Amino acid sequence: MRNPIETLLTDIVVSRIKAKDPRSQEILAKLVKHLHAFIKDVEPTEAEWFKAIDFLTRTGQKCDNKRQEFILFSDVLGASMLVDAINHRAHGDSTATTVTGPFHAAARVYKLGDNIARGKEAQRGEPTVVSGKVLDTKGRPLSNATIDVWQSDDIGYYDVQDVNQPEMNLRGIFKTNESGEFWFRTIKPSAYPIPTDGPVGELLRASGRDAMRPAHIHFWIKSDGYKDLITHLFVAGDKYLDSDAVFGVKESLILNFEKNMSPVEASKWKVSAPFYHVQYDFKLERKDGQQ
Ligand code: BEZ
Ligand code: FE
Repeated sequence: MRNPIETLLTDIVVSRIKAKDPRSQEILAKLVKHLHAFIKDVEPTEAEWFKAIDFLTRTGQKCDNKRQEFILFSDVLGASMLVDAINHRAHGDSTATTVTGPFHAAARVYKLGDNIARGKEAQRGEPTVVSGKVLDTKGRPLSNATIDVWQSDDIGYYDVQDVNQPEMNLRGIFKTNESGEFWFRTIKPSAYPIPTDGPVGELLRASGRDAMRPAHIHFWIKSDGYKDLITHLFVAGDKYLDSDAVFGVKESLILNFEKNMSPVEASKWKVSAPFYHVQYDFKLERKDGQQ
């Protein structure tokens, strides 16, 4: 016969929860129920339980204004993409969403056509033009929409990870013109490993998992009256598209970065040939659910 505490404790703990609103009550009660169910299933030793607490402690200690180990933890467990999937089940004709990740940071405001590559990668990397429109789901242009972009350099580092890059490198904020159009210059992003020098790296190694993300550019698009769109554009042909460490790839977000050899075309965009050009029209959903 088991100690009754083992069978009664979950209900006792839940009965003590007196949250101020029904949603908090539901979340807190389910947290206790699922946590207890996990413990009953796994039956951890005390040493294992303290190891888990130590892991969470070190995950918190690893966080500062440039490093967000808890987002990384949520991402590698697939939790971020599960929340994304639940919240965007009916995205209809709007652009598919994906993870925000831990590397979004404050950026400069640029003019259309400006180059966000301002470090040594601007010489080393492959010149790339990104252009397109911001539209509603009926294809009507959204002028004055804000496009916040960020990406890693040609060797896979974000500015916030690399003291050798200028501040706010490879990130920027643009506004669409009266026709909903945007365009900017950058370099072609590369695949990169998510940071593995912290507890999340230990978790990946303990799980025998790879840390690579396929090459991509991040976008956070805002327009009055529309839901924010947080997404990436992935580079077609990348060898990690089917094994993304954070499960963020969606088919509709994989695009051809077309190689263009024409010096005439290159001069139109103020880049040197050869250059890459990727075009995409983002579609935003209205906040009020109307078309
Ligand atoms: C990123 O794409 O920047 C990212 C997303 C999730 C985890 C780590 C990095
Ligand atoms: Fe990224």
